[in-house]
Amino acid sequence: MAFAPGKVILLGEHAVVYGRTALACALDRGITATAERSARTHLRLEPWGLSITPFERGDDHADITLATEALLAAYGFGEPVSLFVSAQIPAGNGLGCSAAIAVALVRALDELTGAAHTADEIADLSLAWERVFHGTPSGIDTTIASRGGLGLFRTGEGFSPILARHPLTLVVASSGTTSSTKTMVEHVATQHARNPERVERAMESIDALARNASLAVEHGRLAELGALMDLNHSLLASLMLSTERLETLRGIAREHGALGSKLTGAGGGGALVALAVDDETARAIEVALKADGSEAFVVKVGAP
Ligand code: PMV
Repeated sequence: MAFAPGKVILLGEHAVVYGRTALACALDRGITATAERSARTHLRLEPWGLSITPFERGDDHADITLATEALLAAYGFGEPVSLFVSAQIPAGNGLGCSAAIAVALVRALDELTGAAHTADEIADLSLAWERVFHGTPSGIDTTIASRGGLGLFRTGEGFSPILARHPLTLVVASSGTTSSTKTMVEHVATQHARNPERVERAMESIDALARNASLAVEHGRLAELGALMDLNHSLLASLMLSTERLETLRGIAREHGALGSKLTGAGGGGALVALAVDDETARAIEVALKADGSEAFVVKVGAP
């Protein structure tokens, strides 16, 4: 059984697509996958009750079919294989579900073949899948899914792990609507085409916030990290990536003691991430968000 974690971007989504820095970490939950030799190639995605047969697709041009074919071709796996995926994270919520599926599938193929790809090679192979869903992925999701941990990511430079002075206690809450990363990235690209100076300025500011946030994490300055997350959210909202529901969830998190919160992932729906000072506050935020109908969970990241 192969595993790959989901991720949460603490700061820097979208800016990372424009070559800037993002701060992200792996979750303690994600995707498990298995691969077995079989008479025909088949992929079953348990949580969504989805079953597909790549290479025999007829009229099936669904992204998931194309992505599976692209992944198997990138891996160089020519034989029929039966793939099975189960998930402990929701899809379309900015938690890196699709990248984690790809990484878990590559690891499952490695288990089957006895190959031992490095984390970087696994991330690269997984990009074949991600390109179908995301168009021009920065690579942050596949990198975190294959490397795990907490750190800074920049396309071209890769991942630099950082050591948190104290583990971070986060509350992740679903806004109840999913969004397409590809669509949201295109939404920002349209704004960039119209007014490149404005969007570049926003991205440059986000880059500075993410770098400062990394120092705040290393030095255990939680209040500062929370404030930086709030500022990052404002910049994302100025790019029209927030929603009314996300703003409501932010209000609830703030009222119950969050040090800061922001949308995480592509936005336009998806999830909120809030920073709590301790477990008790995190539970209070989680309970309040759940009482308002949001699916929420507490996660600790950055523990050594
Ligand atoms: O929505 P997610 O989990 O796929 O996060 C995407 C992060 C973006 O910066 C919006 C896109 C990217 O490729 O980095």
